[in-house]
Amino acid sequence: MARPLDRRTFLEAGALGSVALALPLKGPAQAPEVKRSSPKPVVISSANGNRFTNGGALTCVAQAFALMEQGGDLLDALIAGVNIVELDPTDDSVGYGGLPNAEGVVQLDSCCMHGPRRRAGGVACLEGVRTPSKLARAVMDHTDHHLLVGKGAQDFAHQMGFTIEADLNTEHSRKLWLEWKRRTDPEHWLDPEQRRSAGFHAGLQMVREGLIDPEHFYGTINCNGVNAKGDVCGVTTTSGLAWKIPGRTGDSPILGAGLYVDGEVGAAGSTGRGEANLYGLSSFLIVELLRRGMKPKDAGMEALRRVKANTVEKRLLNARGLPNFNVSFYILNAQGDTAGVSLYESKYALCDANGPRTLATEALLPGRALD
Ligand code: GLY
Repeated sequence: MARPLDRRTFLEAGALGSVALALPLKGPAQAPEVKRSSPKPVVISSANGNRFTNGGALTCVAQAFALMEQGGDLLDALIAGVNIVELDPTDDSVGYGGLPNAEGVVQLDSCCMHGPRRRAGGVACLEGVRTPSKLARAVMDHTDHHLLVGKGAQDFAHQMGFTIEADLNTEHSRKLWLEWKRRTDPEHWLDPEQRRSAGFHAGLQMVREGLIDPEHFYGTINCNGVNAKGDVCGVTTTSGLAWKIPGRTGDSPILGAGLYVDGEVGAAGSTGRGEANLYGLSSFLIVELLRRGMKPKDAGMEALRRVKANTVEKRLLNARGLPNFNVSFYILNAQGDTAGVSLYESKYALCDANGPRTLATEALLPGRALD
């Protein structure tokens, strides 16, 4: 039953975002307003989804769209797309060759959601498997659980027949880790707090110096799609924050944070600072706002406003008093309307009947994160 927008609620609402939350709420069992009979098939992802090819002819979004158009399972198509990026050693934010943790070990996170089947699977802190998105799908298909982590996830991979490798570093990722280690010499750390902060700031300095792509410090590819039948699926996979404390897991494998899909409504996923996204479970929030009839761009902007409002610690603010990190969301509704939004301007990838392309996100804030 829709909630009426009474005078008190209206007066209290004030800001645009609050008005949105007062819009009628429809539960998953009811047909949402956003669904229509002939959706526009489309795949949306972070910008690395239209950049890396792993030596082949197609990028992630092009591969996923082509497979989707052949009529196979949509989630299989999206995972085949992100596998290209996971396997490409030149994307140092995802899969093989992802930037390692503080001990030099590559630990990977991923999750996937299947809209029509209302199922999901995830893995976190996974070592030795180049394609965590495939293992996330195996968790979904072969277990009653959603999330397997660490050694348990690796043992499961072994049982499922995945190849386990001793080390997923490439020469490039190891070289950057050694450079970071050099800059954060333990002799100069006076206490654990200073050590943590020194590690983070050395990482940011490497971004400023162009050693690390700003979008790759937190890493990640998210890829979502809707096909001609109106099926909606999504997948997110990452090597996570560069130089993280071993065991740290960000937003990527957490349902509602790094990814959320409602097969009747739409999908949203994220890249960027996972800790900021986790506080607001932004992907879940965005899909709920889509359910209430918001357009993808407006829903994403509301989530970004919350990320900004929750960022109050000085260490996370730049000289302008604004967040010193980026967060981006890749959003589609069940009609095939899309949006790429971010705190600071960035890029995203899209493929539809007109082919793959890279577009500028809508930014909430001016300038760049580190300005
Ligand atoms: N968004 C990726 C991470 O924070 O791990």
